[in-house]
Amino acid sequence: MHKLYGPVVRTGPNTLHFNDRRAYHDIYSNGNTLVKEPRFYGAIFVHALGSSTAFSDLQQSRNRRSLLGPSFSRQAVMKLEYTIQEKVDRLVALLEKLYRSPESTVMLSIAYRSLTTDVITEYCFANSANTLSDPNFAHPIALETRNLIKRIWIQTYFPFVVRLIARIPQEFILWLFPKFRTFVDVKARFEQQIDNFISNPEDLITAEHETIYHHLLLPKDPELRPSRTYLIHEAFLLVGAGSDTVGHACTVGTYFALQDHSIRSRLAEELKEAWPDKDRPLSFTTLEKLPYLTAFIKESLRMSIGPMHPLPRVVGDETPEISGQNVPPGTIVGMSHYFMHMNPEVFSDPDTFNPDRWLVRGTSEMMLDLVSFSKGPHQCLGLNLAWSELYLILGNIFRKLDLSLVGENVEGDLKLGKVLDYVAPSWVKADYKVFVNRVHD
Ligand code: HEM
Repeated sequence: MHKLYGPVVRTGPNTLHFNDRRAYHDIYSNGNTLVKEPRFYGAIFVHALGSSTAFSDLQQSRNRRSLLGPSFSRQAVMKLEYTIQEKVDRLVALLEKLYRSPESTVMLSIAYRSLTTDVITEYCFANSANTLSDPNFAHPIALETRNLIKRIWIQTYFPFVVRLIARIPQEFILWLFPKFRTFVDVKARFEQQIDNFISNPEDLITAEHETIYHHLLLPKDPELRPSRTYLIHEAFLLVGAGSDTVGHACTVGTYFALQDHSIRSRLAEELKEAWPDKDRPLSFTTLEKLPYLTAFIKESLRMSIGPMHPLPRVVGDETPEISGQNVPPGTIVGMSHYFMHMNPEVFSDPDTFNPDRWLVRGTSEMMLDLVSFSKGPHQCLGLNLAWSELYLILGNIFRKLDLSLVGENVEGDLKLGKVLDYVAPSWVKADYKVFVNRVHD
């Protein structure tokens, strides 16, 4: 439609979609006068309406962010880096032990998501979901979170379906859809932990490490303390926001590195030089200084897009012009990250996975337009954690393991296939399989 009609397309009676980088920055980066569109957010976060990301009201969102912020600062992430490293070590050990021949192959998309589910649950709650205990990477939490994201378009476009389901007795729903049991169990687990901390706040002192509840349950301003229901919603949101996202970026980056041997060898060489003794962990702060790994991660973020669906905002009375256009208050506006990351004027030859684009001088404009984590008042709260995970996961994988693609992907073209919009993107070939060799120095 943008090809036909230009940079602004009316996609609904009251909705505009832009394809113009200036509009992106007006809507999101400088977006203090626009609010999240309540219908969309109410539909996709129907099970987490009291969580940070569902709030349309800017003040409500700021209040919650002020409570969660300390858990996700760079300093907090570095303090808990060992929790990430522990899980990464576990994944590497599993892959090395069980998937060492072309006969025993592993679907990395789900292996990575199992890892990131364990990281986020340990990091936030000191209570890992332990999905890596299933060596086949078929733990229901990891599988079902993935399926939930694939089904999210249903609740986005047909929200009444979810409202209807909510009225049906739970036991009947579980009889019809036994797989929903996973979410019921996860919810029960969150409830139990939250109830325990509410009735025994002294347990916070003896928790294995700091958790989000250390900040949410003991805010400086007691008025800001979320209700029990909202705490459960926040827990749900954090697991979803923190697991599939990082898992997806790792899946996409690894695919391109395995398709293009020069990328894989440059990663391996740089890592080997910086990290001679691979049996000792290398810190996030050292890994983030490696230029090629950094370029590779930025390119993985660019190609994996982040959310695919435009994140809708409502224009307010005070909103200035958007990309030079006067847009009436009440209009819903948005721009998908896809259009930012695939903009040939900023990212030349955008369909090609090319880490070298980040290794030249003057990449500040590209960095400004790398919007995986969004920008402005609702920018991703977990981005420090996400960066640290990306460095630790991809750094360890390419230093310690030699992965090979199997099946049709070996000879396939260098693209991941069509991108499907399940709100989050889904690539046709993203469920590729690999087998594993240990790197022998
Ligand atoms: C590669 C990984 C990640 C990507 C691409 C990503 C992307 C995003 C984006 C685009 C938003 C804005 C959503 C909106 O405006 O509606 C967001 C919000 C959020 N993300 Fe992330 N995220 C990632 C990892 C994480 C992690 C590890 C966490 C950890 C808990 C996290 C927690 C959150 C939260 C709490 C919000 C809501 C912020 C708000 O609305 O104020 N994300 N993320």
